[in-house]
Amino acid sequence: MRTLDDLDVEGKRVLVRVDFNVPLDHDRITDDARIRAALPTLRELREKGARLLLAAHLGRPKDREPEFSLRPVAERLSELLGEDVALADSLDDVPDGDVVMLENVRFEPGETKNDPDLAQRYAALADAYVNDAFGAAHRAHASTEAVAHLLPSAAGRLLEREVSTLHGILEHPQRPLVAVVGGAKVTDKIGVLEAFLQRADRILIGGAMCFPFFKAQGHEVGASLCEEAGLEPARRVLAGGGEKLRLPTDLVAGREFSADTEIRELDGVDVPEGWMGLDVGRRSAAGYAEVIRDAGTVFWNGPMGAFELEPFAAGTRTVADAVADSDAVTVVGGGDSAAALAQFGLADRVTHLSTGGGASLELIEGKPLPGVEALA
Ligand code: 3PG
Ligand code: MG
Repeated sequence: MRTLDDLDVEGKRVLVRVDFNVPLDHDRITDDARIRAALPTLRELREKGARLLLAAHLGRPKDREPEFSLRPVAERLSELLGEDVALADSLDDVPDGDVVMLENVRFEPGETKNDPDLAQRYAALADAYVNDAFGAAHRAHASTEAVAHLLPSAAGRLLEREVSTLHGILEHPQRPLVAVVGGAKVTDKIGVLEAFLQRADRILIGGAMCFPFFKAQGHEVGASLCEEAGLEPARRVLAGGGEKLRLPTDLVAGREFSADTEIRELDGVDVPEGWMGLDVGRRSAAGYAEVIRDAGTVFWNGPMGAFELEPFAAGTRTVADAVADSDAVTVVGGGDSAAALAQFGLADRVTHLSTGGGASLELIEGKPLPGVEALA
């Protein structure tokens, strides 16, 4: 993969694809971590004498819907960078400034189709291309894939670090390598579980994705969220998991998915009728924390329970604390686990907090990332 060390940018206009797909509450950015994560690349390019043309997507607009405008993002970036950031409404009328941001690339109908004509139009606006959008690297879109072939191109520092860190824990991890995998659905995580069955020393499972495993083992799941399509993959993982695989041995259940519902601590994993398992139990969480403390490398993706509801946050908090306190190399996937770390104030206590949810999972699964391949 080519990096900024391989690209001559002095006096050039550089098209930089960034992942500024940040959460918004109307036009207020509620978490600007992805914008901050791109700053080293943007600053380095500016210091090397490049002018920047930034390209990013926001959400999944169907049309030019104003609520998907990148204007709040351009304003936030301007504050962080300490430079004016002009927003270009149209590809046909791009202002001439040191830092310019194109409007949401998904306003262009060809963007998500990896349309070669659209890629040509992007390329015509710049002399070189840098991709720093790790979070969108699993998409083959015109601004992440096709355009990379049309200009001298390289990875930005964020994309470079994401790829080398994630490859590093797969190829030469400090052992024991512990994977903590949670979240709602087994089918989202099956590729990662299979990858870790090959490579990890321990796999700790939490979240609602436990229930297909428990059901496959003949337990009662009550009213718990239990993905039917997850049963078969769960059986496969159980069959191949052996000693490596750990599931919770106790649970916290609620009557409903709500913070003020009736709560019951279950000593075991059979969930009575009319109850739903919403967190791993105290004993399970403490056991997981111990394994994490003794790890050489930890990869964590997916919460242990419904951490957004205070009565069911303890399992995820215990795991997050253990990851933060561990001397291991700790790598946390983006998405919900990143949100959990942020909620507990631990985001800066891990070795690497990925800016990619889907992208980091696909990389670990061993799938080629189109945005990365295009820079090879
Ligand atoms: C993300 O937030 O997961 C990335 O920015 C990719 O967005 P997408 O899933 O809409 O392609
Ligand atoms: Mg996504």
